[in-house]
Amino acid sequence: MASKHTLLLLGVLIVFLISLLVLTKLAMADDCDDIPADFNRTYFPDDFIFGTATSAYQEDIKNMKDMGFNAFRFSISWPRVIPSGKRRGGVNEEGIEFYNTVINETKAQGDNCLWEDIREYADLLFERFGDRVKFWMTFNEPWSLSGFSYDQGVFAPGRCSSWVTFGEKYSSQFKPKPLQVNHQCRAGNSSTEPYIVAHHLLLTHAAVVQVYREHYKATQNGKIRITLFTFWFEPLSNRIEDIEASKIALDFMFGLWMDPLTNGRYPRIVQDLVGDRLLKFTDKETQLLQGSYDFIGLQYYTLYNAKPNALIDPDHIRYKTDSHVTETSYDYDGNLIGPQAYSSWFYIFQKGIRHLLNYTKDTYNDPVIYITENGVDYLNNETHSIEEALQDEFRINY
Ligand SMILES: *[C@@H]1O[C@H](CO)[C@@H](O)[C@H](O)[C@H]1NC(C)=O
Ligand SMILES: *[C@@H]1O[C@H](CO)[C@@H](O)[C@H](O)[C@H]1NC(C)=O
Ligand SMILES: *[C@@H]1O[C@H](CO)[C@@H](O)[C@H](O)[C@H]1NC(C)=O
Ligand SMILES: *[C@@H]1O[C@H](CO)[C@@H](O)[C@H](O)[C@H]1NC(C)=O
Ligand SMILES: *[C@@H]1O[C@H](CO)[C@@H](O)[C@H](O)[C@H]1NC(C)=O
Repeated sequence: MASKHTLLLLGVLIVFLISLLVLTKLAMADDCDDIPADFNRTYFPDDFIFGTATSAYQEDIKNMKDMGFNAFRFSISWPRVIPSGKRRGGVNEEGIEFYNTVINETKAQGDNCLWEDIREYADLLFERFGDRVKFWMTFNEPWSLSGFSYDQGVFAPGRCSSWVTFGEKYSSQFKPKPLQVNHQCRAGNSSTEPYIVAHHLLLTHAAVVQVYREHYKATQNGKIRITLFTFWFEPLSNRIEDIEASKIALDFMFGLWMDPLTNGRYPRIVQDLVGDRLLKFTDKETQLLQGSYDFIGLQYYTLYNAKPNALIDPDHIRYKTDSHVTETSYDYDGNLIGPQAYSSWFYIFQKGIRHLLNYTKDTYNDPVIYITENGVDYLNNETHSIEEALQDEFRINY
């Protein structure tokens, strides 16, 4: 009953509040014809505070948060806290507890974001498993998540821009990796969401590392890292612009993670090219990020040759093309960099890993590195017997 009553109350108050806001908007607009049918809070500045009131908690507080309110007014009942009306007559601790819960719940809804929840999750894992697990990893290949899920939309949750990719006009020997987005994406924005996701993955990682360092490292003596996947990039030729393109490509794939985790900021070139679409770290977040790993995991498979891509369509910007670089598995003379592995994107070039290790050592203060993936894939021929499959010359040679 109480809850039904409060929901009703909340409803009435919200209607009242919305009428007030509409009135405000009317007053500002002079003319009610200016009020569009889809009038909502985006017509107010971001720092405009919307609030509502209720005397209840939990469900209602959660609803308010979901509805986009950022202020909450509630009343404290005098007799509920002091039944006799006089403090010396005794305080009702149950009443105090009730309001404690309301306040805590409100604050939790206000403060809670993904990384608070994941902190609690990580804390539980450290607490229950940390006596035996000494090497922790926060995320495996965050690049794959932000890129495949939110730029191309081919991994769950399948979000990307709705437009179909522009064609790339290169001679046929240059076969750039497919730049298509998933045509079935129902929603998303390939120019913004990959960066939003990357930003929160970085902050979440740093928050989890902080939990470990503050509460578990001293007693459990383990280490914590993130694992990054990157290609190595070489300039297609020794032209200055190709050299520059190879650095930019690496900064978009590797520096996007390593720079924040090491120095607390995104690579300068990524900041310049992405502009306002790149989220900014507060000073506190920068501090949290800096040096937020005991070691890093690296996964390397192949390299791409890079040259500038002047054909970026300004109406169809997205993470994959923000670097303005064309990546190719061919060299300057039109030869493949190595034999093709099973995956279509993968041409074998083992030496790239040595370049990547040197670069990481020189650029990011010589971190401890674990190679967490490397190797080559090969067709699984189902007609082969186990004995035939074990004649795995391709991988033995590799
Ligand atoms: C609010 O209105 C803007 C502008 O019409 C629209 O783009 C946005 O989707 C609306 N938001 C909600 C939550 O309805
Ligand atoms: C509310 O939060 C305070 C401070 O964080 C804590 O001490 C208290 O136990 C909480 N009370 C309830 C009822 O959640
Ligand atoms: C995607 O985000 C960009 C940058 O904020 C914006 O200009 C564009 O309109 C958005 N596209 C869609 C489909 O929402
Ligand atoms: C990597 O660094 C080592 C040690 O300085 C050096 O001997 C080697 O030639 C470098 N390799 C590459 C591919 O840069
Ligand atoms: C699988 O192996 C058979 C027998 O060696 C061979 O004829 C066939 O081409 C192979 N299939 C593929 C897809 O490579």
